[in-house]
Amino acid sequence: MVGLGPRRQPSRKGSMADVPDDLLEQIRYLERIFTVDQAKLKEVTKHFIKELEKGLSVEGGSIPMNPTWVMGFPDGYETGSYLALDMGGTNLRVCEIILLEEKGEFDIIQSKYRMPDELKTGESEELWEYIADCIQQFIEYHHEVEDLEKLDKIPLGFTFSFPATQTYIDNGVLQRWTKGFDISGVEGKDVAPLFEAAIAKRKLPIRLSALINDTTGTLIASAYTDDTMKIGCIFGTGCNAAYMENCGSVPKIASYNLPPDMPIAINCEYGAFDNEHYVLPRTPYDIVIDEDSPRPGQQAFEKMIAGLYLGELFRLVLVDLHDNKSCKVFQGQDISKLRKAYTLDSSFLSMIEEDPFENLSETGDLFRRELGITTNKPELELCRRLAELIGTRAARLSACGVAAICTKKNIKSCHVGADGSVFNKYPHFKARGAVALREILDWEKGQKDPISILAAEDGSGVGAALIAALTIKRVKEGNLAGIRNVEGMI
Ligand code: GLC
Repeated sequence: MVGLGPRRQPSRKGSMADVPDDLLEQIRYLERIFTVDQAKLKEVTKHFIKELEKGLSVEGGSIPMNPTWVMGFPDGYETGSYLALDMGGTNLRVCEIILLEEKGEFDIIQSKYRMPDELKTGESEELWEYIADCIQQFIEYHHEVEDLEKLDKIPLGFTFSFPATQTYIDNGVLQRWTKGFDISGVEGKDVAPLFEAAIAKRKLPIRLSALINDTTGTLIASAYTDDTMKIGCIFGTGCNAAYMENCGSVPKIASYNLPPDMPIAINCEYGAFDNEHYVLPRTPYDIVIDEDSPRPGQQAFEKMIAGLYLGELFRLVLVDLHDNKSCKVFQGQDISKLRKAYTLDSSFLSMIEEDPFENLSETGDLFRRELGITTNKPELELCRRLAELIGTRAARLSACGVAAICTKKNIKSCHVGADGSVFNKYPHFKARGAVALREILDWEKGQKDPISILAAEDGSGVGAALIAALTIKRVKEGNLAGIRNVEGMI
């Protein structure tokens, strides 16, 4: 068949006419196990709401619901110069942010540093040394002074996008590594002194003002420019959300005796939703991903929907079809490249879903180029359908977390700020998520979406700076909740 040129429809069932029966049977099976219908979405959301509540309670649950000591939204008039360090997953980023006098305005300069893979599974010491080196390079490059010690200390917001227990705004005990990280000697430790020691060794002019999560940063940065933003989400390498709670609704911080209506941002860490495997429709492939990960039993929800795992799910299905199933997939071909775990990332699926040609020729090129596999048309149809199934499931399940927070907080309409590679780059993710939200929340036909998930401001950079600014401001005003060292802050 000849390519018919670009197509525009959001999703393509594909022409299954020339797909042989054995393959068709497998496609139907995959459709069954990867499809999440409206009833399941509702069931997942219902359980999600209960788990959010449980996480806030004294007993806790599988969702950590971490209080962040970010005690309110910005008013848009925060000012000053701040550094932000963003350690999220794929890259390390250092930023200098100037919050300007004009409402909601800022300037930013930034440098990205690759986070070497060896570092993600190496030793604690090497991680902090590397981070401090990057910050030193950044400051030396952007501040032309001979003696760094002569600079005034710059407040820094550290976006550490992992689950951390915070007793203060500027500390955080790492609960566990997520997103494939496995650096020894950090879990169970407060990361602030480890970071500060590496900074002190180099005499860098920095004062750690706040340790934040990327979701909290996204929430605050989005609210800076849009005051209808009520939730900050990341759909990227990992998946998670933060929202503003009232202190009175967080039983586990009752001993702090804070005013019940005082706001406090909660980093849900809801990638850990349903670690008990009570409600999520896991497939045999999800089970393999979990068992082969550095932390089996953790991050059940995240492992079904986050960018780190989408390519791996796709790969596992294809290898299984080739090896075990009574169908012919890549028959007689060397699939050794495809056998390597985590060899495909979510951009591979994006490219397949974006292939504009009827004969899927770009997908064919991709398989040849990246994996050394020559595909036939039925195999390409299968791959396209599989990518759609995996991408659609991710988007639909993602909506459950947002719907659960909105239902719990009785939010009937709002904007949700979202960031992350999957949200920003994966084709149709936004539209598929919006459809699912509508199905869960039963909006009337023709009604404009009352809750919409929109691209957020840069939470890990601008959000971190804003949180540093907000913290300094409230300390000056006498709100000392979650403040360890008043003098050190101002
Ligand atoms: C993982 C981390 C969480 C982060 C999310 C998105 O779920 O545990 O802290 O917010 O990834 O980066």
